[in-house]
Amino acid sequence: MVLLTGCKKSETAANAPATEIVVGEYGSLTGSEATFGQSTHNGLKMAVDAINAQGGIKGKKVRLVNYDDQGKTSEVGTAVTRLITSDHVIAVIGEVASSLSIAGGQIAQQNGVPMISPSSTNPKVTETGDYIFRVCFVDPFQGLVMARFATDPKNKGGLGLKKVAILIDQRQAYAQGLAKYFEDSLTKIGGQVIDKESYQGGDQDFSAQLQKLKQAQPEAIFIPGYYTDIANIAKQARAIGITAPLLGGDGWESVQDQGGDAIQGAYYSNHYSVDEKRPEVVNFVSKYEQMTGKKPDSMAALAHDAMMLLKDAIERASTGAEANGIPSHKAVRDALAQTKDFQGITGKITMDEHRDAKKPAFVLKIEGKTSPIAYTLAP
Ligand code: PHE
Repeated sequence: MVLLTGCKKSETAANAPATEIVVGEYGSLTGSEATFGQSTHNGLKMAVDAINAQGGIKGKKVRLVNYDDQGKTSEVGTAVTRLITSDHVIAVIGEVASSLSIAGGQIAQQNGVPMISPSSTNPKVTETGDYIFRVCFVDPFQGLVMARFATDPKNKGGLGLKKVAILIDQRQAYAQGLAKYFEDSLTKIGGQVIDKESYQGGDQDFSAQLQKLKQAQPEAIFIPGYYTDIANIAKQARAIGITAPLLGGDGWESVQDQGGDAIQGAYYSNHYSVDEKRPEVVNFVSKYEQMTGKKPDSMAALAHDAMMLLKDAIERASTGAEANGIPSHKAVRDALAQTKDFQGITGKITMDEHRDAKKPAFVLKIEGKTSPIAYTLAP
């Protein structure tokens, strides 16, 4: 008798129309990459506020639940599991760092819950399985962009160089992958990698590696790491007389605030630019500035796109016949996979067969606290 009642109760709960839609977020709100998580959270919050101000999704308010993973793989498992098993989220949004998205993606995939990484670019992230998506481009493309920019002649907007050295963060899947894809593309185009050195993210002293790089006399140094280390590396490189231009990838975003003089004139590839004149960008930049007092970096823009795309997918997945008024994880997954020409802030998003977005990349030049667009390449 007792058992039966229990059974009926839970059935009623599951069938009662839900009053809200819960979306999960995991990110590094603290730790050495704290700006990654904070910018992402700001972008998500801004999107959720806008959605709720317009009545929510199919009449249901969105509630964002977020857990801090402190930028640690060991914390990601707990965060994503909790979002799925205790908070019963419809989907998970995260992470920025590819290594952490790979860890979180495994749990989302095992549980059949869709995950969207806003900004992880390593191919392995979505290779985890058919529930894992991203709204950004991937590193093979980003590597090609930087190789082309380095080697293209000056009259085509490039640097016209051939001999490049690479300095790699061994701790990050992102850095290792991007270094490899850059080298593959550079070699194909006719350039040459003349030296490769490595470090561990968080190191403070780069003098041994920088001395070797200096002796190799490269025309440019490609450093596909995170901004937190880049500022130190740039300062130490300039201090020992390395004058070659420094090049990087999207992980450099926000290095302008820390790198000082040493980082001036460096170039990095990115997902968008605050200088773009498209109305979506202009609008977003001004609203974000009102909310936070800062200009939005690419992580904020991509996070906003991830949330808006999720809303769109939930709407497309809804049939109106769901018992509790919310489509299943599978239905949301299928709708995400069918995304075509979704207009985001960072450009039009179409999911390819690998659940990756194909979008143009910008190469930005660091000039003071601004970073004008130096080069663009479409896929
Ligand atoms: N693309 C990086 C990664 O995959 C993360 C990143 C994205 C960092 C955008 C800064 C800005 O690890």
